[in-house]
Amino acid sequence: MPLSLYVHLPWCETQCPYCDFSITTEPVNGNDARLAEAIIKDIKHSSDFIANRKFKSVYFGGGTPSLASNQSIKQILDSVKDRLESSETEITLEMNPNDVSEKKVEGLLGVGINRISLGIQSYSDQELQALGRNHDRKSAIQATKTLKDINSSIDLIYGIEKQTPKSVAKNLETIIALNVNHLSLYQLTIEPNTIFYKKELLLPGEEAIEKMEVIAKNLLEKNGFEQYEVSSWSKPGYQSQHNLNYWRFGDFLGVGPGSHSKISNQQEIIRYRKIKPLESYIKNQKSAELKTIAGNELDMDLAMNLLRIKDGLQHQDLTIDLPASFLKKYQRGVDEGLLLKDKIGATQKGYQFLNETIQLFF
Ligand SMILES: C[S@@+](CC[C@H](N)C(=O)[O-])C[C@H]1O[C@@H](n2cnc3c(N)ncnc32)[C@H](O)[C@@H]1O
Ligand code: SF4
Repeated sequence: MPLSLYVHLPWCETQCPYCDFSITTEPVNGNDARLAEAIIKDIKHSSDFIANRKFKSVYFGGGTPSLASNQSIKQILDSVKDRLESSETEITLEMNPNDVSEKKVEGLLGVGINRISLGIQSYSDQELQALGRNHDRKSAIQATKTLKDINSSIDLIYGIEKQTPKSVAKNLETIIALNVNHLSLYQLTIEPNTIFYKKELLLPGEEAIEKMEVIAKNLLEKNGFEQYEVSSWSKPGYQSQHNLNYWRFGDFLGVGPGSHSKISNQQEIIRYRKIKPLESYIKNQKSAELKTIAGNELDMDLAMNLLRIKDGLQHQDLTIDLPASFLKKYQRGVDEGLLLKDKIGATQKGYQFLNETIQLFF
């Protein structure tokens, strides 16, 4: 079973009002070196879970990993150097536009990062303000330009307060003009426990959202992008190997405060997480909420990941023998014209109504 490494670095300059990730707005203040040490220890103590496998990909997510020093990233990467699948292994790091400078990026490439994921969200000042972001259009454009010759990806959000389909088109035209090769296009979700949850927002209605999606599909396809997952678009050869491993139901080892892991062995599939507060994790990297996934829960888990892949998966590309209970539910989906017969994946209709299709497995 393939295995990826996820490294969580929790610092953010400010808390965005829509975000429910595990973050802290405390200044980094040298704690990146202490966290790097704890993370290295954590990986070392995870050898039973790693079981001599090499990492297929590495992903530094957050929070805002670009707030950590290149030295602390280097420390972590040096410790897994011999555990990478090859010298080409995809190693991604998330950045916020304000942290992107030629010097910072050069330093990151120097310590082994070979892919950057940039949280732009929008190129409109009004929309960035509505999202409570700490960057503006100018720094968004500047950061995208700085990364133009580097394997990189842009995150955009649609469905922002007062956003129009026309403005979504403008955002997409900007990434097309700036020659971006990979895009994650997320619809704004209002998560419980966020400031947006408690606020009255003037969000675009269902019809406008549908229009935004049609515009995005047409514009992106016309300009050489292919959708390969619900929110992921890429030019040929630029798909995210790390994210594909999640959706193919590969294993991942998560390290850092609040990170999640999924590990399989001959007997069982387990999921667990690490404690969230930074100081607690630095002191104690023990796993919490360890649980075995089986039966109905496994069927749902499989459906929620595998069916996100746009073109489906050939049976020989699966990382797991699908349980009989899953296959039985799957057949019902085939009979209803929602799931593909010769591959594991959704038909055009099943993909259009993916949430309903996934309900077949509940
Ligand atoms: C952990 S953030 C990483 C990058 C960086 N911290 C940033 O925000 O620019 C990952 C991405 O998730 C997306 N995201 C976070 N919260 C979201 C929400 N409530 N709805 C839609 N997308 C969201 C954003 O596009 C964001 O770039
Ligand atoms: S910068 Fe990114 S991770 Fe941090 S609070 Fe904002 S959306 Fe969340």
